[in-house]
Amino acid sequence: MADWVKVADLKELQRRKKLLAEAGGTGIALFFDDGYVYALRDICIHKQRNLSKGLVFQGKVICPGHQWAFDLPTGWVDEWAECQPTFPVKVEGGEVYVDPEPRVRTEAPAPEERWPVGRGAKLE
Ligand code: FES
Repeated sequence: MADWVKVADLKELQRRKKLLAEAGGTGIALFFDDGYVYALRDICIHKQRNLSKGLVFQGKVICPGHQWAFDLPTGWVDEWAECQPTFPVKVEGGEVYVDPEPRVRTEAPAPEERWPVGRGAKLE
């Protein structure tokens, strides 16, 4: 059962499109894109840059370090067959919550798990 932690105000995330939050001692990059909320570990798996400073483009966050493109719903990077940890996310009562237990994939996600079919938390 998920242990949800409140990490952000939804209106602020909608306004800024991305935010750095924290849960369980881990930095979490939150993104608001096309009506959905996504949560990925902030520190990049490649060389530890901050994904919260990345650019969101066509369902991916582009790391400011070396431009690896992480699929927002799954954290997967096709070019390197690696995965940024993601966090389950939900929106309730104008607040964003994450389960601080990360999800890490070791195999490529199925097409229906990836953007644009796979999605984060949809707003009500
Ligand atoms: S630090 Fe993120 S791609 Fe290199």
